[in-house]
Amino acid sequence: MRMWIASTVLGGIILKPIIFSGMQATGVPSLGNYIGAVKNWVALQQDYSCLFCVVDMHSITIRHNPTEFREKCRELLTLYIALGLDPQEHIVYFQSHVPAHAELAWILNCFTYMGELGRMTQFKDKSQKHEDNINAGLFTYPVLQAADILLFDTKLVPIGHDQKQHLELCRDIATRFNKIYGDIFTIPQDYIPPVGAKIMSLQEPTKKMSKSETANPNNVIYLLDPPNVISKKFKRAVTDSFNRIENNPEEQPGVTNLLTIYACATNQTVEQAATELANIGGYGNFKTKVGDAVVAMLEPLQKRYYELKADTAYIDEIISNNANRANQLAQTTLTKVKNAIGFIPK
Ligand code: TYM
Repeated sequence: MRMWIASTVLGGIILKPIIFSGMQATGVPSLGNYIGAVKNWVALQQDYSCLFCVVDMHSITIRHNPTEFREKCRELLTLYIALGLDPQEHIVYFQSHVPAHAELAWILNCFTYMGELGRMTQFKDKSQKHEDNINAGLFTYPVLQAADILLFDTKLVPIGHDQKQHLELCRDIATRFNKIYGDIFTIPQDYIPPVGAKIMSLQEPTKKMSKSETANPNNVIYLLDPPNVISKKFKRAVTDSFNRIENNPEEQPGVTNLLTIYACATNQTVEQAATELANIGGYGNFKTKVGDAVVAMLEPLQKRYYELKADTAYIDEIISNNANRANQLAQTTLTKVKNAIGFIPK
């Protein structure tokens, strides 16, 4: 029963299992973030009680400009709502507004091994990218992520493919803790979508599309790119010389990626999308069609974003009210953990 909450805090009286997920506020979210994560969060809201976090504490593992960062954090929270996350029924908040994340992360640090953290591929990648700033936060990043998840008795964590390793570590840490102290944490499951869990770069389709990409903006569709920019980026997307539209990630990574994006934008399977587009008449038409589908999907969301952004009082109210609800909810597990390890209650 631990993973179910009778949730007046979450806004309903129905007993539902908990979802937690989050995104870093490093750059404008990409089409990959939307298809691999947020689009699924929106759909899962019906059957779960959800916490969707702007993980601002994770974002400072890389050097940043405070003024821009503040804007990015607010932009991301506003985007969450514009994309369809419901801050009344569920909780949409900033990680730094809930100190329990950091408190639990410290405790879990003491139950995580250096060797485990050294094996994390994201740590290896980021250390290579930011050679001048391989800080301890970058190394212990997955422990904070484990704390995010375990703090709320999370049952399901909807993520893209690149977060799978972090979720496995989270499960290992929780299992280790439970073996020592009893049944304290719920062991979470990942939810990785069958299609779109790894959207690839448009120019280098063997690499993941990443919102922190700075070298070539043509690699990435940013969710707030204007429609003409989106169309242009798709027209420039790298394909191949086979001149056939097939789901073939090995030989045709560019075409397969575009097909996957089209399938997600039109809510079809990749096979259905391939059948629909097989005789479209060349890669030029294909790329235009994919661009149009993405514009059709994003345009209403962008409109909603700009309306919400202008309503500063509404967003301020959500920020404050949702932080309060998250703080309240976080205390249950944190108190159990503190008691289990022997801290004296206040
Ligand atoms: P982040 O901010 O890199 O990405 C947010 C979500 O988007 C997914 N994603 C993708 N999916 C498909 N194709 C892509 N190209 C693509 N790029 C990103 C990610 O898998 C992720 O689901 N460490 C996390 C944030 C985090 C978190 C958490 C997630 C912190 N605490 C607790 C879940 C639960 C991260 O950096 O995600």
